[in-house]
Amino acid sequence: MSMKVLVTGGAGYIGSHTIVELNKAGYEPVILDDFRNSKPSVIDGLQKILGKETELLNFDVCDTERIAQYLSKEEVCGIIHFAAYKAVGESVVNPLKYYQNNIEGLVSILKAVSKEADIPFVFSSSCTVYGEPKGQKEVSEQTAKTIPTAPYGFTKWLGEQIIEDLYHSNHELRMMSLRYFNPIGAHESAFIGELPIGKPNNLLPFITQTAAGVHEKLTIFGNTYPTVDGTCVRDYIHVVDLAAAHVKALEFLLGQRMGCNEIVNIGTGKGSSVLEVVDAFEKVNEVTVNYEFGPKRPGDVIEIYANVDYAKSLLGWQAKKTINDAVRDAWRWEKSIRSKE
Ligand code: WQD
Repeated sequence: MSMKVLVTGGAGYIGSHTIVELNKAGYEPVILDDFRNSKPSVIDGLQKILGKETELLNFDVCDTERIAQYLSKEEVCGIIHFAAYKAVGESVVNPLKYYQNNIEGLVSILKAVSKEADIPFVFSSSCTVYGEPKGQKEVSEQTAKTIPTAPYGFTKWLGEQIIEDLYHSNHELRMMSLRYFNPIGAHESAFIGELPIGKPNNLLPFITQTAAGVHEKLTIFGNTYPTVDGTCVRDYIHVVDLAAAHVKALEFLLGQRMGCNEIVNIGTGKGSSVLEVVDAFEKVNEVTVNYEFGPKRPGDVIEIYANVDYAKSLLGWQAKKTINDAVRDAWRWEKSIRSKE
């Protein structure tokens, strides 16, 4: 069996960490990325970690013909599809950018897969498909989905539906959607990590950039929520644990003789508030984060974290790293970026 795995968006944050984990597990990942939302420097970082080059296909995931040509001459044992835009706020301002890239890109890679029929397929989905889980803080895969208000989240909701419909048209296909919670942290080497292009949307890069002096202060969006300390609660998962879950997902699909379409939560199973994350960051790294409380951010879910029983029973996977590991690795990565400026 070929050990080649095609990883779309493989130069991205989660994609690059998954390239490392696939190598560790003995696979030969192939990156498909046109660097529209990632940087070529990630390829150099992977070279330093792996001590070897990773095959790179530098073209648009929407170019179905080129993907089909590649798959007709190269045997791959699986496909992991990360390539998508993921900034919630930007998706509201520029919805067509998100629908074109995230939906057309998914359809493009699925057309190539279904042509080759029997390539296991892992899709990068998101807990955002749960929306505000109506007072049910802990969500399982059976928790009802809510159509997300932001176009970004809707592309994940619709992506899962497209995969479901494709599976019902061909029950030989082996597919899995992983619903990520909040990925944070970086590889311990600090050769790869989260590279927000422009002002970060997500909490942890904003914390690390504030601690590094890039921003004067962090604004915590709301501290009067009905939670442990008034700030929103999320399930923050170390990106290396999340990457390892993709290897487990691929191996599950490779072990299936029949077709399947599985949906799995990938989180730690534990919620942490914004203030708890800031506190952990300050304590672990012995630095101060200057912050103030500001108005609530429209659309923010109050509290959500994963029930991860299915990931354990189906994939034999659970998170191993802690939030302290993640904030330590995130800070090491931030300092490495700043040292190169
Ligand atoms: C977390 C908490 C903010 C920034 C989104 C997507 C999800 C996934 C992760 C892609 C919230 C608070 C944040 C800041 C703050 N994306 N915050 N000040 O919104 O839970 O999830 O990103 O995979 O699909 O929906 O993540 O990091 O933006 O926010 O107070 O400067 O931090 O209000 O409570 P979110 P986030």
